[in-house]
Amino acid sequence: MEITKICCIGAGYVGGPTMAVIAQKCPHIQVTVVDLNEQRIKDWNDPNTDNIPIYEPGLSEIVAEARGRNLFFSTEVEKAIDEAQVIFISVNTPTKTYGKGKGMAADLKYIELCARQIAKVAKQNKIVVEKSTLPVRTAEAIKSILDNTGNGVQFQILSNPEFLAEGTAVKDLLNPDRILIGGDSTPEGELAIEALVNVYANWVTKDKILTTNVWSSELSKLTANAFLAQRISSINAMSELCEKTGANVNEVAKAIGMDSRIGPKFLKASVGFGGSCFQKDILNLVYIAKSYGLNEVADYWEQVIIMNDHQKRRFSNKIVQTLYNTVADKKIAFLGWAFKKDTNDTRESAAIYVADDLINEQAEISVYDPKVSRNKMLCDLGYLETRSEVENAKALTIFNNAYEACKESHAIAILTEWDEFTTYDWQKIYESMHKPAFVFDGRNILNAKELESIGFIYNGIGS
Ligand code: NAD
Ligand code: UGA
Repeated sequence: MEITKICCIGAGYVGGPTMAVIAQKCPHIQVTVVDLNEQRIKDWNDPNTDNIPIYEPGLSEIVAEARGRNLFFSTEVEKAIDEAQVIFISVNTPTKTYGKGKGMAADLKYIELCARQIAKVAKQNKIVVEKSTLPVRTAEAIKSILDNTGNGVQFQILSNPEFLAEGTAVKDLLNPDRILIGGDSTPEGELAIEALVNVYANWVTKDKILTTNVWSSELSKLTANAFLAQRISSINAMSELCEKTGANVNEVAKAIGMDSRIGPKFLKASVGFGGSCFQKDILNLVYIAKSYGLNEVADYWEQVIIMNDHQKRRFSNKIVQTLYNTVADKKIAFLGWAFKKDTNDTRESAAIYVADDLINEQAEISVYDPKVSRNKMLCDLGYLETRSEVENAKALTIFNNAYEACKESHAIAILTEWDEFTTYDWQKIYESMHKPAFVFDGRNILNAKELESIGFIYNGIGS
């Protein structure tokens, strides 16, 4: 079957960029991205593509090229489902905040809603693709809903998890390490797999397109995120030991990373990993393991999260301790709020938790981030429900310039590794601060020697 019409449910960080790249690389395929969130769709349709709702390097150019040609953003979910041969589900799968599995399991209510809507609308056979990250064996539930509530048409369910990282989404999509497609080994399942392989084959070489059974594909996604996060928690655990022993974590990371069996990537010690997925996916893995009675497996992976929480708290404690055990009424400048550079995403960013801890100690936080809005930062703090909106707004002052944010502060904390932070006139910043002036480099991006020669007291992670 040749695919000519695709629908994607969910115009978020995955649905938007993924479909934009498919549309760019497959001009013969009509791609419609739908979402219930009217504002989000309106923003994707903004005539000025610099205003699209997700900031990713290179994305606005791709949207400018394909939008209106074969890429469409719409709120007409049913129409798009009806017309498409292939429907990608890219909706959010957050950690459950209620009921059984609260705080651990993935909340599949949005996935189930999509399945029910597809079942209701579909009048012809369809391929349904799980693009969202899902617990292993979710395809079974989707199939059951589709087969039992549908109009008697045939559905093939494929798992096609997404491995893009934010900030490099376009690069990752254009040149992926691999594309993973899981499907049934029935003749119909194999035809569906082949149809999706052929979509990706428009720009990805076939040796990079891996096909597996559905359960391996679903579980591989959770496993990949667990391994990546585990590396960060492992190096962060070493960073604490480095601080006690005089070893330097950057030197340790370099030394071990040169072992080709270990490799150099994902060994940057930090204030802790953030982002919408690592924590959520590991908690989900822990929950699945527990539900099969695999308690040792569950405990093993849970430790990755425990270590990450410890690292965030350790960073805020270190600021308080170093500032003579009190930060009350002291101004602490945060450079960066996003969970990593080159994105405006702040979900689970370490900055939120460090700010919360310091505000509890009655510090005044001033923040500068090149891409994150004031509203977003206040919402992030609000979600923690530690204090009222008014109290948060009083404790957090947001600047659109780093020099202003740092002026008259006692300390600077680097929370995101934005490149521009390394280009600042640090002498000028030093002169505008209270003395002694401290820098807590949560990303190890600044030049410690240079800052110390200016007069700063520098604290990096693991040094
Ligand atoms: P997101 O919250 O940015 O986007 C999800 C969108 O789905 C929202 O705009 C929401 O309004 C929409 N939606 C929810 N239910 C809907 C429905 N019934 N009909 C229409 N629209 C609906 O989420 P995201 O970051 O894009 O993540 C989506 C999935 O992809 C998650 O499972 C996540 O784990 C996975 N994932 C995310 C990343 C990432 O970098 N963010 C990378 C790989 C995988
Ligand atoms: C991560 C994975 O890298 C993607 O492959 C995956 O598709 C995605 O999760 C997902 O499923 O959502 P992402 O969270 O966007 O991507 O970004 P990463 O580059 O993985 O960074 C995650 C966090 O780890 C960031 O806070 C980053 O600063 C931190 N990190 C990363 C470190 O602290 N040290 C490192 O060495 C690398």
